[in-house]
Amino acid sequence: MEVFTSVKSLRNYLDQQLLQQRTIGLVPTMGALHEGHISLIESAIRQTDITVCSIFVNPTQFNNPEDLLKYPRTPEEDYAMLEKAGCSAVFAPTVEEMYPEKAVLKINFGTLETVMEGASRPGHFNGVGIVVSKLFNIVRPHKAYFGQKDLQQVSIIKRLVADLSFDLELVICPTVRERDGLAMSSRNRRLNEAERAIAPAIYKVLTSAKENLLAGKQVHDVTELAKSEFLSMKEFTLDYIEIADLKTLQSVERIGPEGSNAICIAVFLGPVRLIDNIVF
Ligand code: PAJ
Repeated sequence: MEVFTSVKSLRNYLDQQLLQQRTIGLVPTMGALHEGHISLIESAIRQTDITVCSIFVNPTQFNNPEDLLKYPRTPEEDYAMLEKAGCSAVFAPTVEEMYPEKAVLKINFGTLETVMEGASRPGHFNGVGIVVSKLFNIVRPHKAYFGQKDLQQVSIIKRLVADLSFDLELVICPTVRERDGLAMSSRNRRLNEAERAIAPAIYKVLTSAKENLLAGKQVHDVTELAKSEFLSMKEFTLDYIEIADLKTLQSVERIGPEGSNAICIAVFLGPVRLIDNIVF
C-alpha cells in the first residue's frame, strides 16, 4: 500500500493506473478508522481495481473548534487496518496541501441543509461539499463510497454529483454497528465507560420508534415518546429527533410507503455528539 501526502504524487500514481485501464474507487474519510470505514473499503476493493482511501480531518466542516481539536487522530493504526484490508493507496494530505488558499466558494444546498445536521452545525455541509468536490477532482474516481450512517451527507453528496455533473457512481453502504447496536463512529472513542455503557440506547430508541410507527402510532406521539425516553436518561442531551422524508429530508406528519422515511437522531453524550438513523 502506498501513502501519498501530495496531490502531485497521488496524481502521478493514478495516471499510471489509468494508463493500464484500471478503475478507481475512492473512500473519503477523516481517519480514526473502524469497521464501518473498512466495510466501505471492502466494497471498493470488490468493485474497482484500485482503492484509494483519503484521510483528512477537514477543518472547514467543523463548526465547533473543540470538536476539531479533539477529533481522534490515529494514522499508524489507520494505515495498518487499510493495509490488512487490501487498500491500494492512502491520500493523507496536510491542511496546507488541501487548502493552499482559503476556499471562498460557498455551496448552498437549499432545504437539504436547513434541517437536522445543517441546522445544528452551520457551515458544516458547505465544508463537506467543498472538500468532497476537491477529492473528486484530485482522484477522479469511477466510484465513490459513502456510509448510510451519515444520511444527510449522502443526500448532499448526491445533489453535488448531480448539480456539478461529476462523472462517477456513488455507492452507499449500510451502517455497521457494534454488537450492542451502537453505530460505529470515530467519536465513540471519546466516550467514557459509563457513557459507552448507555450509548446503545440511541439505537434502541430508534428501533422502538420505528416499530411504533409501523404499528400505526402517530408521528407526533412517537417523537414525544422518544424525547421523554432521552429526558429520563440523564447522560443524554437530545439535539433532535426527526421523522423525515428520505428524499427531501423534511419532517413528515404521516409516514409514507416502505423505504420512504428515515428516523434521524443527534444526541450529546457528555461532550460527545453522536448521530444515527434508520430508514424504513
Ligand atoms: P468520516 O466520519 O470519517 O466517515 C467516512 C465515511 O465512513 C462516511 O461516508 C461515513 O458515512 C462512513 N461511515 C462512518 N461510520 C460508519 C458506519 N458505522 N457504518 C458505515 N459507514 C460509516 O464522513 C466523513 O468522514 C467526512 O464528512 C468526509 C465525507 C470524509 C468529508 O470530510
